[in-house]
Order: sequence, then structure tokens, then C-alpha cells
Amino acid sequence: MANIVLVGIQWGDEGKGKIVDFLSDKADLVVRFQGGNNAGHTVIVGDQKVVLHLIPSGILRPSTTCIIGNGVVVNLDVLQTELETLESQGIKVTAEQLKISENAHLIMPYHLKIEESNEDRRGDQKVGTTKRGIGPTYVDKIAREGLRIADLKDVEYLKEKLGVLLAAKNEYIEKVLGAAPLDFEPIYQNLLKHRDWVLPHVCNASLVIHQAQRQRHNILFEGAQGTSLDVDHGTYPFVTSSNTVAGGACTGSGIGPTAINKVIGVLKAYTTRVGSGPFPTELFDEVGERIQTQGHEFGATTGRPRRCGWLDAVFLKYAVRINGLTDLSVTKLDVLTGLKEIKICTAYKHPDGSISDTFVSDGRELEKVTPVYEVHQGWDEFPSEAKNFEDLPPQAKAFLRRIEELSETQVSMVSTGPKRDEQIVVHSLF
Ligand code: GDP
Ligand code: IMO
Ligand code: MG
Repeated sequence: MANIVLVGIQWGDEGKGKIVDFLSDKADLVVRFQGGNNAGHTVIVGDQKVVLHLIPSGILRPSTTCIIGNGVVVNLDVLQTELETLESQGIKVTAEQLKISENAHLIMPYHLKIEESNEDRRGDQKVGTTKRGIGPTYVDKIAREGLRIADLKDVEYLKEKLGVLLAAKNEYIEKVLGAAPLDFEPIYQNLLKHRDWVLPHVCNASLVIHQAQRQRHNILFEGAQGTSLDVDHGTYPFVTSSNTVAGGACTGSGIGPTAINKVIGVLKAYTTRVGSGPFPTELFDEVGERIQTQGHEFGATTGRPRRCGWLDAVFLKYAVRINGLTDLSVTKLDVLTGLKEIKICTAYKHPDGSISDTFVSDGRELEKVTPVYEVHQGWDEFPSEAKNFEDLPPQAKAFLRRIEELSETQVSMVSTGPKRDEQIVVHSLF
């Protein structure tokens, strides 16, 4: 029995979905604890590719129960479409298999509208969000002005609460944004329509998790986004609006920190970033283009090209500290195959000439650093079918050993390709 938290430890898209799907083989429960449909988690099983936005990536394992935790923000239109898409792919999800916390907040049409205006007003300072209404929904949660899944239970209460909230939002939309107000009736009717299918999934998620713990079940907490997008510890303000770090698993699902046994960081062998903001190891040359093409680095949610660069061990060390990582799961090593040289950034050079291996989360300071690299030898061929660490090319093994040295954390898993079985397990996690 173990409670494992899995988080992305770069700017998202590290391959979390693939690793969660792999580990779910042994997980009784998989819990998403933050974010919303800004996430895009890709799982490839056989010839089938499934992209999940809100539903945990354990859903492809029929005997695993999945939970959307209280920390997640839920767009019911998107969730319904996701369930329908899964069904069209032959995966029928029952209310037993997918549970939703009654405390999760709802993304509403006015959140989408407000976010669009916010981004437009920022001009060249825009965050480059996924435009899914994530930020404004978390704003309302903290302002105690959010609608929650639980509010769907009582129709009269729902009507009254939505009326009050929408009146305030419309005032803002009209007076501040100068845009047209939203009509109450279609929004209300849409919520009523969703009520019927969503209520059977609704539960006291914290209690369900607690009961699973008492039965000594294996539980996997699935993070979305990545550590550098964390609202407190990331490259603020170019971040998302939730706590993406391991600590978020507690608040976002209703467990205490003492329940967690291991924290796995998913680390891509290079770095990518979607949206604006500082990125010290970004590549603007043909190597960056090659990584983007070989790694198919285009957003799973918005289709935007991902900016690509070398692995940043300064950030990696920071991520180990902020998340309390016990294990690393390295992905997409195969993408680097064929490069003569592979670089790792081991320190930052600051404008005053000083060199430091301590990460700076202040975006304005981070913009000004220059990466200090060490160069590693590349490899020409990569055995995606390898099942043992020993079967990897010697240069790839040296690269992984160096990652362990720099991070002082063991590499427990090495992903050798996008498919479920393209995976080396160095140390078993469950
Ligand atoms: P997530 O958001 O962290 O779940 O990652 P995404 O699904 O957005 O992006 C990761 C992409 O890389 C997906 O298309 C995966 O299928 C793919 N992928 C995951 N692991 C590997 C790997 O080891 N090698 C290769 N070539 N692709 C991988
Ligand atoms: P997964 O779970 C990569 C980025 C956006 C933008 C910033 C804020 O697939 O790794 P938001 O819409 O969240 O307010 O946008 O965060 N972003 C992601 N980048 N992967 C993700 O999720 C992301 N979710 C948000 O591009 O820069
Ligand atoms: Mg993704």
C-alpha cells in the first residue's frame, strides 16, 4: 500500500499522463487535485491515442477508480464532451469509476469572457493562457464567490445563487470591460441539463480517499501543469492559478501531508514551455527546431507550438526542494537520439558576473540570467523496446546518472517512447 504524488517538474507536458497510466496498473485510486481543462494529458495504448483534460489518466484501467478532487476547476460542457469522446473510443465510464468532489468549483461562461478581456488588456504582458477560464474561476473561489458542484444538488438554491453571482459579474462585464452582459436563462438551463448526468458521480471525495487509505489501497495523486507554473513557486506572473507542486495534493484532495509516502517528479530530458514568460535554456536554433519536430512538441490542449530548450538542472534542484521529490521519472530521452551533443544547464550567470546554481523565481531577474552548460555526448540509436536500464546506450546512462547526481534524487523510471509498454522501471514505486 502506498500514497504516491506525481507532479510535473518543468513547465508542464513532461509526459505525466503516460506515467500515470503506466502506474495505474497497480493503483486502486487515481486523484486529480488541481487545474482544469488547461491540462492535456496524452495516453497511448496500442494504436489508440487518448487525450485527457479533466478526467484522471487512470481511467483507461477498468479496475481503477478515478476522482476529480476539490482542487480542480470543472467545466461541465468539457467534461461531458470528454466522457462522450471516451465512449466513442470504446471506453464507457461509469459513475462508480469516475467520482467528482462536491467541493470542486465550476468554470462558468463569464469566467471565459473575463479571461479573454484580461489577456487582451495585458497586451505584450499577456500570460498566454489556455483561455479556458482557469484564472478567473480560482479568483472567484478565493473571493468566496464561486459556484461549486454541490450547488447543483438544490435547484432553488442554485437558481438564487447563480442570479446573485451573475448580476455582479454582468456589472463588471458591462461597466469595466464594456462588453455585453450574459443572459441568465441559457446559463441556468445548461446547469440543469448537466445536473442529471453529473449528480451520480458526485461524492465526498476526501472521505472516499480516506476509506481507500484505511483499506490499504494504492493511491496515486495526479498533478497537472508543472512546478514552474505554480502560482506561488513558479515564474510569477507567467504561471497558472493553482498550486501545481506536491503540497497541492493535500489541499486539493483532502488528505494530510503525513499520508504521502513518495513524491515522483516527471522530468522531460529537455525543457518545453507553452505561453509567455522567461525560459533561460530556450533554444532559437536548428537544434531547438529539431527537438520540437522529433518530440512532436505541440500543445495537447491548444495545439500551440511548444518552445524548446535544454534541460535546466538549476530548476531541477529547485523542483526537488519545493516538491520534496523522492523519485524521478525521466521521459522523452529517445527524442534526443541523433544529436551529437546534449547540454545540461548547471548554473546561471547573473548580469553582475556572479554564477549561482540557485533558482530565481522572480521573472524579471530570471529574464536576465545566462545559462552555464556542461556538454554530454549524444547517442545514435535508442532501443525503445528496452526493459532494463543496462540496455540503454552508455551515453544515455551517463546522462541519467548525471541527472541523479545533480538532483540528488534517484531515477526510478525511464520512458523510452510514447506507448504504454515503452517503459523501464529501475525501482518499483507501488
Ligand atoms: P503531460 O501534459 O505531462 O501529460 O504531457 P503531454 O501529454 O501534454 O505531452 C507529452 C507528449 O509526449 C505526449 O504526446 C506523449 O504521448 C509523449 N510522450 C510521453 N513520454 C514519451 C517518451 O518517452 N518518448 C516520446 N517520444 N514521447 C513521449
Ligand atoms: P499539462 O497538465 C503546459 C500554461 C499556459 C500559460 C499558463 C497559464 O498538460 O502539463 P492557464 O490557462 O493555466 O491560466 O495558463 O500556463 N499551461 C500549461 N502549459 N502544460 C499544461 O498542462 C498547462 N496548463 C497551463 O500555456 O502559459
Ligand atoms: Mg500536457
